[in-house]
Amino acid sequence: MTPDNSLFTPVEADLQLLADNLKQLVGNRHPILFAAAEHLFGAGGKRIRPAIVLLISRATILKDDITQRHRRLAEITEMIHTASLVHDDVVDESQMRRGVPTVHSLFGNRIAVLAGDFLFAQSSWYLANLDNLEVVKLLSEVIMDLATGEIQQGMSCFDSSLAIEAYLEKSYYKAASLIANSAKAAGLLSEVSPETAQHLYSYGRNLGLAFQVMDDILDFTSTTDTLGKPAGSDLKSGNLTAPVLFALEEKPYLEVLIKRQFAQAGDLEQALALIQDSQGIQQARELAAHHAKLAAEDIAVLAPSESRQALIDITDYVLSRLY
Ligand code: IPE
Ligand code: IPE
Ligand code: MG
Ligand code: MG
Repeated sequence: MTPDNSLFTPVEADLQLLADNLKQLVGNRHPILFAAAEHLFGAGGKRIRPAIVLLISRATILKDDITQRHRRLAEITEMIHTASLVHDDVVDESQMRRGVPTVHSLFGNRIAVLAGDFLFAQSSWYLANLDNLEVVKLLSEVIMDLATGEIQQGMSCFDSSLAIEAYLEKSYYKAASLIANSAKAAGLLSEVSPETAQHLYSYGRNLGLAFQVMDDILDFTSTTDTLGKPAGSDLKSGNLTAPVLFALEEKPYLEVLIKRQFAQAGDLEQALALIQDSQGIQQARELAAHHAKLAAEDIAVLAPSESRQALIDITDYVLSRLY
């Protein structure tokens, strides 16, 4: 399920190695937790986060080869992401992820919560073993941010007064923080200047925001089969994302439907029709494109290389991705 074959070319071999390592890193202290955690790693995913870490590693170490620490950072990044998905699917009661049944639907909620904890704990241990305090600080903040994002989202369910700024803040916590902080950490491992580190952070932040906004659009425009996870589920569960927030400005009746939580027959269908009939999706696309453009500008500070080009191409890919 990796995106367009050519996008990650400079780090294709690295990603293959990462896939093999990830399975070993989970460790098998407990067979059921191992099976549960391994289930989602085995299903793959797009691997966009470790690809970004590896590409930044290569783009910032132009002469020498990347180090074991860069590789380990990429693995930790994917591990943290996967842990957050295991927990998120419990919270969202989702049945499918990466085209396979979710961990909780196969093993039950108890095991899924423990398996997610186990992955977070493992990632913290590998993180500490990088022996780089600044990197430890960056990535441990991400784990706090992921929980903050889920909590903020849960607290603002069906809240039609949610401002786009609050939505973006939540999206930073949920999605952009991991990409931003791991991008910066990859640079720190290459000993880049503080200014470059800040640009790498900003690249990840803007790319992550664009990625989440596009993810929220795909929930309206794509299908469960294509996404490998349930489509059309955000609105139903009261998760009001960019397309809805923009549509609300144009279609006030949406607020009535949201306030009564789509309690009456046909409410949800009517809300979807109002959104489709508005500029909401288009405006959300423009918001994503704005952040993707900022990300491309941020990464332009690196010296030209094949990897830097791939990092620029990823800013286009997030806007055109189909899953
Ligand atoms: C899904 O991330 C969660 C979001 C932050 C939108 P991805 O779309 O990268 O999921 P995988 O790793 O490819 O399954
Ligand atoms: C999942 O968020 C990602 C995290 C919690 C970090 P979402 O609920 O928005 O994403 P999907 O649609 O399940 O992938
Ligand atoms: Mg979800
Ligand atoms: Mg969720």
